[in-house]
Amino acid sequence: MSSSQSHWANLPSIGLSMRVLFTSYLMAVGLGLLLAGGQIMLTHGMADGKFGLSVDDIVYSYYGNQKNSRLETALNGIMKDKAPAEVRRDIINWARDGAPKDQWDSHYKTVLSNHCTACHGELPGIPDFNNYNQVRLLAEVDHGATIGSLTRVSHIHIFGIAFIFFFVGLIFSLAVNIPKWLKETVIALPFVFLIIDVLSWWLTKWHPGFAWLTIIGGFGYTAASMFMWVTSIYQMWFMKKRPGQRYLNEWQYD
Ligand code: HEC
Repeated sequence: MSSSQSHWANLPSIGLSMRVLFTSYLMAVGLGLLLAGGQIMLTHGMADGKFGLSVDDIVYSYYGNQKNSRLETALNGIMKDKAPAEVRRDIINWARDGAPKDQWDSHYKTVLSNHCTACHGELPGIPDFNNYNQVRLLAEVDHGATIGSLTRVSHIHIFGIAFIFFFVGLIFSLAVNIPKWLKETVIALPFVFLIIDVLSWWLTKWHPGFAWLTIIGGFGYTAASMFMWVTSIYQMWFMKKRPGQRYLNEWQYD
């Protein structure tokens, strides 16, 4: 391979127009990532009512808050003394199942009239438990993300982000003086973490214990792409190139 053909293709040596193109792209992508981070903080970050992203936020966003219907909260709190523990547990399980109407007709209507309707049905201003619809409203739980929304967000996320990582990785593949194994790993990592991230949403929808995978995924590709971003900008603009100097570049030693 003739050296004159090969060694232009590295970040300290590329021409000004390519440098401007790469830099403009990296700046736009950097800004986009900052805004995305901000948006995540404001939406998912507030899911548990507190600012800042936590495992709880991720659980609320994907799994939902399936243990906190007003009915369940009351049965474990202010209404605790109104029915024995087995009865309360039975009602709670029914609420967590989505308070199905057929079970109301066959069983829970009687349970509630035995324990609750002396007040809920007589006293004004509190929900009437002879009325299925009023019970169902109080039994409603938040099931988190729907399969439909997860499918939509997953494919948009994978296509969009893969595009970004492809070009960030392509630019970084022209970096010099980075050990070959490290370069190849850093280029592959964002894609690996992207899949982990999206997979974790589905797993968290199924079980809240997987929420930490979302944090690992997001942290992983942020770190890998920041490394590529900073290295690329640095090598294009700040790395001193001495005349006639050759760099250890994958494109030359492959
Ligand atoms: C002795 C009367 C009485 C009985 C019996 C009773 N409740 Fe209540 N319940 C009340 C009152 C009064 C309130 C309103 C309390 C408040 O808002 O501070 C209330 C509030 C509630 C709420 C909260 C509603 C909301 O707005 O969030 C739920 C849920 C509830 N009761 C469920 C039950 C269930 C289930 C039973 C039967 C196991 C039951 N209660 C039995 C008097 C009763």
